[in-house]
Amino acid sequence: MPDTLTITDNRTGKQYEVPVADGAIRATDLRQLKVTAEDAGLATYDPAFMNTASCRSRITYIDGDQGILEYRGYPIEQLAERSTYLETAYLIIFGELPTETQLQEWTTQITLHTMLHENIKKLMEAFQYDAHPMGVLISTIAAFSTFYPDAKKIFDEQSRKKQIHRLIAKVPTIAAYAFRHSIGRPYNYPDNDLSFTGNFLNMLFRMTELKYKVNPALERALDVLFILHADHEQNCSTSAMRGIGSSQVDPYSAMAGAAAALYGPLHGGANEAVLRMLNEIGSMQNIPGFIKRVKGGEGRLMGFGHRVYKSYDPRAKIIKQTADEVFAVTGRNPLLDIALELERIALQDEYFVSRRLYPNVDFYSGLIYQAMGFPVEMFPVLFAIPRTAGWIAQWEEMLLDPEQKIARPKQVYIGQTRRDYVARDRRG
Ligand code: ACO
Repeated sequence: MPDTLTITDNRTGKQYEVPVADGAIRATDLRQLKVTAEDAGLATYDPAFMNTASCRSRITYIDGDQGILEYRGYPIEQLAERSTYLETAYLIIFGELPTETQLQEWTTQITLHTMLHENIKKLMEAFQYDAHPMGVLISTIAAFSTFYPDAKKIFDEQSRKKQIHRLIAKVPTIAAYAFRHSIGRPYNYPDNDLSFTGNFLNMLFRMTELKYKVNPALERALDVLFILHADHEQNCSTSAMRGIGSSQVDPYSAMAGAAAALYGPLHGGANEAVLRMLNEIGSMQNIPGFIKRVKGGEGRLMGFGHRVYKSYDPRAKIIKQTADEVFAVTGRNPLLDIALELERIALQDEYFVSRRLYPNVDFYSGLIYQAMGFPVEMFPVLFAIPRTAGWIAQWEEMLLDPEQKIARPKQVYIGQTRRDYVARDRRG
């Protein structure tokens, strides 16, 4: 049987055959459904893109019902256990796991590009002493487009590769400088003898010692967190990256917009909200009262529920293990007991079970970041560093996709019909 959808238009009595491919119909195929010849044809109305695919992608696969997340076909569990962030970033961007030589070359390129131009450093110094590090990150990424005008050559593969090296390598440096700025400490230059996350920890936390000693457990934990956050298909910030990039602007300008989308509390700010909630609950005996209020519609259990995952977020499972490894070094975050008890109760409670609300990636990540010494303002910044890989991969896929054009959604106009201008003295 052919994979088609038969539509009967009751307005005209006509029937249409619309092809179905990969579980989707083309919205433009509906245009043929017209009442009159001048009619623009039937459109779809889909606020918040609840059921509209905007691209065909080969990068990340999610099955929300079964709790599956794969990058380029590789399950997130295997990558978190066996890969590194840099290797995973290579996989996400170039489509295959690197060979030994490719990984060495990639690592060398990234290491070579970690330094920031001194003028960028000066630009960052100009921010107010208490500037939010995410605001600093967004502005500095945007400023990169003025330092690297060659990035405008977006259809030149070599140029794109160079910007990719720069972005993956320099975003952690900007992030660390933004953090040091916010706490009034001098910026630490990158140390190229260290790993990607080891160097990041060095730029964040080195004080007067000549050589920063990286704690291997924290270095690995951060690497795992970075792997988990590297891509998540067409989320809000990634859609922003694709949408802005579709105007053919340089990748720095597009990525500043993507990072701005991540700044919002519904996207990159959820783990901060989890910490605030745990602090507000304060102690174990307040948990039943809190759950009762949530069930009564007063607020939400933050870190629970997801637009896509209707089962346990696979990233949350991995993060729980990582939390134990981090707390073994830093000491247990006292809020952990409250979090564990909330999870235990919620997973048995009919309200949460029937709505398929499970812990998402943010339920535990904030606790880990806090235990590692990060203030909450750094949480979205820590999200942006690994998401750089996803943003770049999705941007490049969009650019090279012959079906893509400048993004331009339709609207359903519900305003006034045509009317004549009214002189000022005759209004009201
Ligand atoms: N606590 C209590 N009830 C909830 C929660 C929650 N965390 N999440 C959803 N619900 C309830 C809703 O009240 C609704 O109940 P109803 O059917 O009786 O009205 C039902 O579950 C469905 O909820 P929606 O809001 O329709 O689900 P949606 O898919 O739009 O929202 C979201 C997903 C925004 C993640 C939501 O679950 C939420 O607000 N969670 C808390 C915030 C959070 O953790 N965000 C991080 C997401 S992960 C990320 O962005 C990286």
